[in-house]
Amino acid sequence: MNITIHALTKTFKHKSMPITEVLKNVNLTISQGELVAIQGKSGAGKTTLLNIIGCLDIPSSGQYWIDEQDILSLSNSTRAKLRNQRFGFIMQDYALINDETVMDNIILPAVFAKTPILKAKERANILLARFNLEHLSAKRISALSGGEKQRVAIIRALMNDPDCILADEPTGALDSKNSHEIMKVFIELNNIGKTIIVVTHDDTIANMCNRIVRIADGIVE
Ligand SMILES: Nc1ncnc2c1ncn2[C@@H]1O[C@H](COP(=O)(O)OP(=O)(O)O)[C@@H](O)[C@H]1O
Ligand SMILES: [Mg+2]
Repeated sequence: MNITIHALTKTFKHKSMPITEVLKNVNLTISQGELVAIQGKSGAGKTTLLNIIGCLDIPSSGQYWIDEQDILSLSNSTRAKLRNQRFGFIMQDYALINDETVMDNIILPAVFAKTPILKAKERANILLARFNLEHLSAKRISALSGGEKQRVAIIRALMNDPDCILADEPTGALDSKNSHEIMKVFIELNNIGKTIIVVTHDDTIANMCNRIVRIADGIVE
């Protein structure tokens, strides 16, 4: 997918607090098949931008297009459907459900997409095999190591075969060996045409991407 963002702003309003203008004027295009790193200081608005790109949130003003489609003119439910079908998220802390099994976590995006459960499990098993995690299918998330949780989060993001994968500091809690493993997976996915956008403060990881986008003072430098 081709992503086009123009004059985007995002302001958070608190009742008694001053208004926080997080994104002030973001202009950004990301083409189909790019592998992009987003960098910037803590609080710069990286997660806010990623959430808007992934249709989890909407901006306060500006324009957002995916291919020829004006995303902000869509209804909330259409946008939610688009998010579920076309984006795979790997959240900052993975956001896995600890008390549930690996299988139940992985099939969640397919369940939201109303995929028949047997079909969802079939695809989950293929992905588990690809990542050498078949043996963990019935284990609870709480019993996994950090590296295993990370691979489960990647598999869940791939469940609906998205065009674009959004990863928010996916290597933040990992040692450098596991960080390189996840980047190897992203590069493989990128090689089969997926657009990958990864927020990272690790320069080694950022330098493995095709392009680095820096956010500071509410704009893309
Ligand atoms: N839902 C929210 N309500 C109010 N303020 C928020 C909200 N989300 C983020 N912010 C504020 O916006 C700023 C940018 O946050 P964020 O996008 O998470 O930054 P980053 O990911 O670059 O660290 C921070 O000051 C944060 O406190
Ligand atoms: Mg963040």
